[in-house]
Formats: sequence, C-alpha cells, structure tokens
Amino acid sequence: MNKVLTRKIPSKAERYFSTGISMITSRGPQGPNIMAAEWVIQISYSPVLIAVFIHNGSYTIKNIEKTKEFGVNVASQGQTTEVSVAGGYSGSEIDKLKIKNVFKISQPHKIKTPMIADCTINAECKLVRKEKLGDHVMLVGKVVHIEYDDTKSPLLYHKGRYFGLHSTIEHDRKEVLVSKNTLEFFKNLAQGKFVLKCVGVLVESKDAVLVIKWPKTAYETIPLAIPPQGKNQRDYLTRHLNNMKLQITVENEPIMKRLVLKNGTEIQRVNFVLFKGKSKKQTREHTWKPKNDEIISNLI
Ligand SMILES: Cc1cc2nc3c(=O)[nH]c(=O)nc-3n(C[C@H](O)[C@H](O)[C@H](O)COP(=O)(O)O)c2cc1C
Repeated sequence: MNKVLTRKIPSKAERYFSTGISMITSRGPQGPNIMAAEWVIQISYSPVLIAVFIHNGSYTIKNIEKTKEFGVNVASQGQTTEVSVAGGYSGSEIDKLKIKNVFKISQPHKIKTPMIADCTINAECKLVRKEKLGDHVMLVGKVVHIEYDDTKSPLLYHKGRYFGLHSTIEHDRKEVLVSKNTLEFFKNLAQGKFVLKCVGVLVESKDAVLVIKWPKTAYETIPLAIPPQGKNQRDYLTRHLNNMKLQITVENEPIMKRLVLKNGTEIQRVNFVLFKGKSKKQTREHTWKPKNDEIISNLI
C-alpha cells in the first residue's frame, strides 16, 4: 500500500519565510512614529532603492503619504524590545517613541524624520513610488543618506521568533590556507566582491601544470580570466588565451571548484570555472609549476 506523505503544517506556509527586521520611522501632524517591518528589501544599487511593504491600516503609511520620507532602521540583536513595542502597538494607540526607556533616537542627516540609534543600518529615504499590491502597499524609498555600524549584528525573524547570526555556513566550499601573497593577489582581483568568479584552463603535464606570470606582478597562476557578467565563460577564456598568444585547445566540459582562501582571519571566496586544455606549440613565454602548489593542488 502506498504510504501517504503529509506535510507537517500544510497551512500558513506563507508565514514561514525568514527575514530581518527593520524599524520604520516616519513623521506626521501628530509627530514622529515608529513601526516594525520585516518586509523590507533593497531593490537597486544605483540609485540605492529600498522597498517596504506596509499594511494600509497603519499609522506609518498615513505619515509617509504626507511627508514623502521615512527612515529604515535595520534592527540589531539587542533591539528585541524596541521591535516588539514598535510592532505590537499602533501610533493611533500610543505615542511609541515617547514610552520611557525603549527607543534611543538619533538625529537624521538629510531628512527631518528621526532615526533610531544602535541599529546595524540606518537609511534615510525619500518616497519615490507607492503601489498597492494585495493587502499591503509597496513604498519605494530612494536612499539619501545611509550608515552602517560594523560592531552590530542583525536581528533575524523566523516563525514569530527572534534569532541572531551565530554561525557561517561554508561546508560546500573548500577551505584552503594560503600565503599572504596569494590571498592579496586574489583579493586584488576581487576588488571587494564577496565571491571572485574566474575562468581558467588546466594544462597538465606529468607532474606540473602550465602557468603564466600575471601581468604587472610576479604572481604565477594557471591562465585565468575574469569574464564580465553575462559573458560566456568558455568563449571569454578562449579569446583571452588567443590574446595572450597561448596556443591551447580548450575542452568543452567545465569543472567547478569553489574555494575559500584563508590567511589568518582574512578570507576570499573564489569560484574557478576550469576547462582542461591541451598545449600546442607555445609562442609566448610560459612555465610549468608543480601540482603541489597551494592553489593548483586544489584545482586538479
Ligand atoms: C517582527 C514584526 C514584523 C512586522 N512586519 C511588518 C511588515 O513588514 N509590514 C507591516 O505592514 N506590518 C508589519 N508588522 C506589524 C506592524 O509593525 C504593526 O501593525 C504596527 O502596529 C504598525 O504601527 P503603526 O500603526 O504605528 O504604523 C510587523 C510586526 C512585527 C512585530
């Protein structure tokens, strides 16, 4: 007989997303107000735009409609009381910001709405778009001033409970201890990106792999390129090899190696899309490096 599989909780699944929490500050004829909102997300880098989704019955929405500005104060781990109070009462019920010893107000830079201290991020926003979507209203704010506190950790929200960031999950990325020099080389290539995405070719001889000197440095790596977003990785690599006058036949099937390079507490995540290659007669200077090199040994 077929066993019937049942989901543990078939209803309310829409309530089980995981989010961060922000406190939205606003001001209106009755003075400033604050509410908690988990549906807050950055939707553009340039300009920086943040969308917040707020229910129509809130006091906050009336304020924002009037003044066309709001503050997004991303809550930190020490702010569960603030969030519960901001989300548990409406400004129509009580002047929340005046409750003793709950909120620590900070002065805004570019808007007139007060901001909240001790948050991870404070973003001052000017309203640029408003649209009713289902039973909430999307308010899009253009960020006119933004600050980040490196010492604070964000407060997370899941199934009505608060959580913190207690561990980092890197289990599917191989950790490779590298020299300071190597880490610096890849960090320079990454230019601040969390993950450096490069494409390279592995040309192996018995005990060694073909390497080239990276332009303007003494660093030797397998021939690598960093394709711009959207470019076909193999085509970009072949063109790069041609430009370098490297005569290599590149196979079709890519291999993916995802590493996290580490030196002390410093790390750089690197994705290597690798194609095996066969070396034809080389017209340009290249060398061979033993396969036990700190990076190469993890690529083959
Ligand atoms: C953790 C948490 C997250 C919340 N997220 C939202 C949200 O994303 N959008 C929303 O409309 N209300 C959200 N609420 C509910 C509002 O904060 C609540 O309705 C508040 O009383 C509105 O305040 P106001 O009437 O003073 O504007 C949330 C409440 C809590 C406790």
